[in-house]
Amino acid sequence: MDRIVVLDFGGQYSHLIAKRIREVGVYSELLPYNTPADGLGEDVKGIVLSGGPSSVYQKDAPMPDPRIFELGLPILGICYGLQLIAFKLGGRVSKGRKREYGRAELIVKDFSDLFSGLPGRFYCWMSHVDKVTKLPKGFEAIAYTKNSRYAAVRDKVRKIYGVQFHPEVTHTEHGRDIIENFAVRICGCRREWNAGSFIERAVKEIREKVGEDRVLCALSGGVDSTTTAVLVKRAIGDRLFGIFVNHGLMREGEPEEVIEMLKGLGINFRYVDASERFLRRLKGVSDPEEKRRIVGEEFVKVFEEEAKKLGRFKYLAQGTLYPDVIESARSGSFASRIKSHHNVAGLPESLGFELIEPLRELYKDEVREVARELGLPEWFVRRHPFPGPGLAVRIIGEVNEEKLRIVRKASSIVEEELKKAGLYDEVWQAFAFVGEDRAVGVQGDERRYGRIVTIRIVCSEDGMTADWFRIPYEVLERMSNRITNEVEGVTMVTYSVSSKPPSTIEPQ
Ligand code: XMP
Repeated sequence: MDRIVVLDFGGQYSHLIAKRIREVGVYSELLPYNTPADGLGEDVKGIVLSGGPSSVYQKDAPMPDPRIFELGLPILGICYGLQLIAFKLGGRVSKGRKREYGRAELIVKDFSDLFSGLPGRFYCWMSHVDKVTKLPKGFEAIAYTKNSRYAAVRDKVRKIYGVQFHPEVTHTEHGRDIIENFAVRICGCRREWNAGSFIERAVKEIREKVGEDRVLCALSGGVDSTTTAVLVKRAIGDRLFGIFVNHGLMREGEPEEVIEMLKGLGINFRYVDASERFLRRLKGVSDPEEKRRIVGEEFVKVFEEEAKKLGRFKYLAQGTLYPDVIESARSGSFASRIKSHHNVAGLPESLGFELIEPLRELYKDEVREVARELGLPEWFVRRHPFPGPGLAVRIIGEVNEEKLRIVRKASSIVEEELKKAGLYDEVWQAFAFVGEDRAVGVQGDERRYGRIVTIRIVCSEDGMTADWFRIPYEVLERMSNRITNEVEGVTMVTYSVSSKPPSTIEPQ
């Protein structure tokens, strides 16, 4: 399959570049910045050099293998990537004194390739300190802004392009068209990347790997593990066995809905209600990371006990996604972890299975496409993401029956009202959380001392950053009224108006 490789120089938006390229139907992957030129894989039709926090003159600035410039492949440098091109090919980059950050009007001078079909002026998103002050031989400017003479440049003969702005972020108008022009027009890639072609390849690979063996799968009730199971089932039929553990921290009605759906999909599975066991272990624990550790640990124990009853398995199928793969590859070099994000469906190596991870190349919205193509019901495919440790991270302080009842019911009201208002699909996640705080309330003539519930609704592309949702007041009012009326023990409702960063999406 034709592909574009994105070399990752540590930029905040690097992963988005590969995602955008795939959105135009061309396969793309993110590789470490120092991947050798002969290790870019077969069928590479172009290279993107991502942005990054470094300055080219810095002592240990990340540098690509210089041979990538000799492969004869089209190259697009973005931000730091553009500066690298200038630095490496004989131009000049100067240290800026202050950061240019935000929207800038781009004026296009040449419409023959990168800007083909685009208007003469539009807004782009800038975020840089250093800038190119002299172009290498053979280069010319094809667009500029007030502050950047060289906002977009090219060497038409060698097909080397550079942009100072970020076409991969949604704040850049026509960013997607620029990326499409590079991938399809300049690199000549065929659009071969879609859910159907993915399924065909995945099924074939699973069959080849598994042969006549059996495969076990931990079902969490989420889109990733369910899609994994359906794909494996399509490949090997009833030699797939699932285990669905209810940890007692799921959303209202969720275990029942999931059981019904799995049955409908014809998957062989065991259902284990281990709620009591989990709640006992969580008693008295209020540290968020400790909760995650306990839920993860207990999950492994329950899973192991149940798996034993089913006999020996060589393979374990797991719904690992591309962002997890990238994140663990990057964590040594660039990113630091904020939360342990223990994925309940992610089991430790010590269990001794060989892994099958058919979704490890996919982004979340690609998994949704694959799920649809495999015939999973639409309500399920559209369902908001839900963290592995479930409601445990939506309860501040100790997890107990009372708080669980409150978040469960309040969250289902939030979801219901959002759906009624036609806004459910507009947001990334919407839920209620509860903490230790109490507020005085009044009902009739009586004074009550009850819990404070907070509604949190956020918009996000991928969960890495998020913006709080500007919810219409009347929808918020309906949610608030219903929560204080229908959820016993709640006297006050608040709305969370913090974005990520500085907050995180889940309160714990
Ligand atoms: P945060 O709270 O870190 O969340 O902004 C980002 C996204 O990750 C989900 N999340 C988790 N998912 N295990 C998971 O499987 C976890 O421990 C966990 N913590 C947060 C969260 O729901 C959001 O979509």
